[in-house]
Amino acid sequence: RRLVVLISGSGSNLQALIDAAEHDELGGEIAAVVSNRGDAYGLVRARDAGIPAVVLPHHEYESREAFDAALVKVIDRHAPDLIALAGFMRILTPAFVNRYHGRLLNIHPSLLPDYRGLNTHRRVLADGEREHGASVHFVTDELDGGPLIVQAAVHVEDDDDAERLAARVLTREHLIYPMAVRWFMEGRLQLSHSGVRLDGQPL
Ligand code: GRF
Repeated sequence: RRLVVLISGSGSNLQALIDAAEHDELGGEIAAVVSNRGDAYGLVRARDAGIPAVVLPHHEYESREAFDAALVKVIDRHAPDLIALAGFMRILTPAFVNRYHGRLLNIHPSLLPDYRGLNTHRRVLADGEREHGASVHFVTDELDGGPLIVQAAVHVEDDDDAERLAARVLTREHLIYPMAVRWFMEGRLQLSHSGVRLDGQPL
């Protein structure tokens, strides 16, 4: 089974996936990494792991549709079973999302459906929440709104700032993302018209 990972930045979730693959705990291999930014540190992580890394600078495309069409070409060249968004900071067109329906995952730093969108850690602190976390979900054309697969919760501590909280949430992201990817790669996880199933049971 083959995975393509899309990134824009640090790529610590990518690293968690690379580490899992190297320990035979991903159910397959990472066929390629694609970034929309040439300065993403995740590209270094990919190259260090011997994984083909492709840069597609989004500002070189005249529209979202043109960028996504180029992205599809690169992805399909690697014939992945699954595509994982890992800190990929671009909104994808419905054409892209529909093309990969049921085989496109995202990780989001909040307990969805709460705190969709950006700056989740800052907003959680501003609201005085006591609990926060991360969610892995199938991607649909509703932003951060697709069917949930797995979540991990953390306590918000009194002395947390956004950086400390983000770091604590990231440690959980690094556990749940490789886990969800492995479920999919092993054929245990499906999205059907009736929802998400793990080992044939509704989640
Ligand atoms: C993570 O918090 C992820 O949930 C969000 O963007 C961040 C990416 O971090 N979508 P990294 O690039 O994987 O380190």
